[in-house]
Amino acid sequence: MSRLEGWSEGWAAGRTSFHRTFVDKSLLEFQSKLLVKKPSRVLVPLCGKTLDMKWLADEGHEVVGVEGVLQAVMEFFQEQELPYKESDVPGLKGAKLFENEDKKIKIYLCDFFQFSKDIAGQFDAIWDRGALVAIDPSLRKQYTDVLLSVLSPGGRILNEVFEYNPEEREPKGPPESVPEEDIQKFFGEKFTTEVLHDYDHLEGNVKYRERGLTWMRQKIRFMVLK
Ligand SMILES: C[S@@+](CC[C@H](N)C(=O)[O-])C[C@H]1O[C@@H](n2cnc3c(N)ncnc32)[C@H](O)[C@@H]1O
Repeated sequence: MSRLEGWSEGWAAGRTSFHRTFVDKSLLEFQSKLLVKKPSRVLVPLCGKTLDMKWLADEGHEVVGVEGVLQAVMEFFQEQELPYKESDVPGLKGAKLFENEDKKIKIYLCDFFQFSKDIAGQFDAIWDRGALVAIDPSLRKQYTDVLLSVLSPGGRILNEVFEYNPEEREPKGPPESVPEEDIQKFFGEKFTTEVLHDYDHLEGNVKYRERGLTWMRQKIRFMVLK
């Protein structure tokens, strides 16, 4: 199974519990750290149909999402009631670009690992919720390489990750645990990193207790490209 096939099946079957019907609270809380330039060019990797993109555009920023499943892209434009245009992406076979009328929101339909600055230029900021934790841990270096390719000097990343003991968990799968060692290994050399929030994610969360976890942290991290 290709890495996108499983996600596509999940979308078709309505397994999208990651989707929120409100704008992310950490994005709201830390917008002034992430969005220093006004307007900023903001990348939302593995964007799904998150409302955060609409909110960012309404704040005047230019938003580029990257998503591998067509259904997610269609549902985003339909649910936000945004007319869009569809086009091919020069240099990226099979990919499509969907953009709204004022071109403030663009979504590339492609595998994120094929994305680069040659396709959509460079970004001031990256908002990563449900992206680093969604990819297979073996692809973390490739994932960081794409982020590094598209981030401008001094560019900023706000991300949310989870930490838990993967051996406790059944069934396994996303959200994957991203320990501090991996943040240091993949981001530590090129970025300054700062944990802004460190929450207990098991409190009141039956789902992950039932999957065997005895602890789970949710961390909001801010990183700046040195
Ligand atoms: C956990 S969801 C998070 C979605 C969104 N960021 C949010 O906060 O609601 C991960 C999304 O990434 C998409 N995806 C997974 N692997 C991908 C890949 N390699 N390239 C592009 N999209 C991918 C999935 O279809 C899914 O919509």
